[in-house]
Amino acid sequence: MGETIYAALLGLGTVGTGVYKVLKSQEAEMSKKIGSQIKIKKILVRNLEKAAAKVDDPGILTNDWKEILEDDEIRIVIELMGGMEPAKTYILEALHAGKHVATANKDLVAAEGRELFDTAQEKNCDFLFEAAVAGGIPIIRPLKQCLAGNHMTEVMGIVNGTTNFILTKMTQEGMEFSDALALATKLGYAEADPTADIEGLDAGRKVAILASVAFNSRVTFDDVHIEGITKITATDIRYAREMGCDIKLLGVARNTEQGVEAYVNPMLIPSTHPLASVNDSYNAVFVHGDAVEDAMFFGRGAGELPTASAVVGDIFDIARNLQAGASGRISCTCYKELPIKKMEDTENCYFLRLQAEDRYGVLAEMAGIFAKDKVSISQLVQKSANQGCAEIVIITALAREGDIQNAIRELEKCEAIREISSVLRVYDNAR
Ligand code: NAP
Ligand code: HSE
Repeated sequence: MGETIYAALLGLGTVGTGVYKVLKSQEAEMSKKIGSQIKIKKILVRNLEKAAAKVDDPGILTNDWKEILEDDEIRIVIELMGGMEPAKTYILEALHAGKHVATANKDLVAAEGRELFDTAQEKNCDFLFEAAVAGGIPIIRPLKQCLAGNHMTEVMGIVNGTTNFILTKMTQEGMEFSDALALATKLGYAEADPTADIEGLDAGRKVAILASVAFNSRVTFDDVHIEGITKITATDIRYAREMGCDIKLLGVARNTEQGVEAYVNPMLIPSTHPLASVNDSYNAVFVHGDAVEDAMFFGRGAGELPTASAVVGDIFDIARNLQAGASGRISCTCYKELPIKKMEDTENCYFLRLQAEDRYGVLAEMAGIFAKDKVSISQLVQKSANQGCAEIVIITALAREGDIQNAIRELEKCEAIREISSVLRVYDNAR
């Protein structure tokens, strides 16, 4: 049967319930699989009555954190409450008490990771967070272990299922953003307040964590430039497809000689790129290393059981380390202090859709502005002309963000330009 290792769950919401269920489903073979038996001794909840229906033995429920903290038999704390506080305090107190921690809390890891990792290291404890990025997809452990023999230069992906579902509906069914969001809400993909998803904040937290792990240098949420998908229209998507591209909310992190680039934005990506075929609420992370070259990880980025799958993987790892006397074996891997590149110094190709007066000289005027700002145009198409107004789509060559922003400011001042409808970055396969 092996040793019994007692654990406590903090939070019994979507993921907490999933972890409880997955541990139950593993009960019969767990000791053969990992050499010990994990037993949930306590579950911290806010409302005992509400939680009672979710567990076999309501006696394990408590709303007193101290009951868990002061129980020396509990060696693993599984934080699944979310948010900054009291999650941070409880995790730090647990680590100070010598308990090992697994969490899915991306908000906390992305913003306050350093203090949590330092404390775990100081106390020789495991602090694992596989579920914090891309739910059920293994990516933190692969980056820290299987791919450790690489210098990673790029990690990017579709790390938010809600927005990928919305963009998929806009692409495949021509829906406008608001209708696709309403459908995502109806089907339970989007939360009642979808801001964190549609404004790119959720993806930004995941990119901060991915970049830190991939490049061995701390990148925090504040370092990530973030743009959401609320301004994307069905027209942008249609034109992108006419140019052989899809629009995806991409989290991008690059390790360049000038520093780390980290941003989240809706981006045109060639339809031939593997990430372009990741649809609905699926997630995928694409990495590039000097030895492995390209590798992609695909799967469910959220949900009760997929996310619980990642958390339980962490719990099993902690249990194995406890058995081997090897806790804290793989702790914080951020041993560098790479600079963060300013967004204005990043380089991409750009897609611009604008409405201009339909008369001679306008294109020449626009071309003059781009030339002055050192932006080279690689494609220009007039899509339509209506009542003296022409819709023009421009794709630029690789350009510096700061130069593009200067050009946009100049275009905005230009009388012949009635509206700049969209400015989107284009992922360049060839770089
Ligand atoms: P959730 O459904 O809202 O569950 C959180 C639970 O924690 C709720 O039941 C809540 O109780 C409880 N809770 C909050 N504060 C508490 C406190 N002070 N004491 C006791 N219980 C408390 O959230 P979730 O979706 O499971 O997410 C949990 C974590 O996993 C978050 O960090 C989230 O970012 C992360 N995550 C979630 C997913 C996903 O697919 N859902 C995927 C990846 C990562 P009440 O019911 O009383 O509010
Ligand atoms: N809200 C997130 C998503 C899941 O839509 O992918 C939690 O990380």
